[in-house]
Amino acid sequence: MSSRPGNGAVKPVIQVANVVKRFGTFTALNGVTLDVYAGEVHALLGDNGAGKSTLIKILSGVHQPSAGQLRIDGQPVRLASPRDASQAGIGTVYQDLALNPLASVTRNFFMGRELARGPRPFGLLRLAEMARITCEQMRQLGIDLADPGQAVGTLSGGQRQTLAIARAIYFGAKVLILDEPTSALGQRQQMEVLKTIRRVRALGHVAIILITHNEVHAQLVADRFTFLSLGEVIGKGAKAELAGEDIRRLMAGGAELNDLTAELAALD
Ligand SMILES: Nc1ncnc2c1ncn2[C@@H]1O[C@H](COP(=O)(O)OP(=O)(O)OP(=O)(O)O)[C@@H](O)[C@H]1O
Ligand SMILES: [Mg+2]
Repeated sequence: MSSRPGNGAVKPVIQVANVVKRFGTFTALNGVTLDVYAGEVHALLGDNGAGKSTLIKILSGVHQPSAGQLRIDGQPVRLASPRDASQAGIGTVYQDLALNPLASVTRNFFMGRELARGPRPFGLLRLAEMARITCEQMRQLGIDLADPGQAVGTLSGGQRQTLAIARAIYFGAKVLILDEPTSALGQRQQMEVLKTIRRVRALGHVAIILITHNEVHAQLVADRFTFLSLGEVIGKGAKAELAGEDIRRLMAGGAELNDLTAELAALD
């Protein structure tokens, strides 16, 4: 059992232990270890090609590890498919969100998992109840829907992210994986998504893995950081233990960004 300073002994919801992933002769992940706890945001940071997406694909059942182990609530699991991962309680919100912009918020919320009365496919859909649940779940994450029957296309980018997150949680995600949730949004929408992440954290039972290139966003919402570079963990720590300096240094791309800032300044 792992323990955390100041928090007594707490078991991680999900553990990645010495995971290796090879694609042919290329090693994309070389012994990655990561523990994620309920009620915490764990930022996974790293430059292009670091292995973030590969790790996420292993956690969501898309790829199988070449070596190493995944444990959920302490039990070793084999996630042979995305379906396995979702049944094990891993909800992944990809950048495209998998929403249908023309369908209503309620329809998107229940997509493929509608409540019906009587045997499917002809059972009467319990639309009113579905709409009520959708409103309730969105409200819990800070969005007051004017009309759950409105098309998803009419929602803001931040509200759509919240919808995809609320849906994953309602259908049983105890590990929520967010892949660059703020990268395609404007400033205000980004803040909305960060607030949503904090609200999910406040629920207390969900372990959140946040993949981001944005150091500021990670510092705003994450409790713990893991830095990947070329398939290896090059640094990790709780926010309280890491100085902003460390984060900037470890944040791959940070050095290049400083170089770029200097180069741009030199042009003026
Ligand atoms: N299916 C695959 N076959 C071969 N190589 C792969 C495959 N998927 C990923 N890779 C390689 O593994 C390495 C890690 O890729 P990955 O996509 O996990 O990085 P990333 O951290 O998500 O990067 P980015 O920030 O650009 O999204 C890269 O060098 C990539 O080319
Ligand atoms: Mg990626």
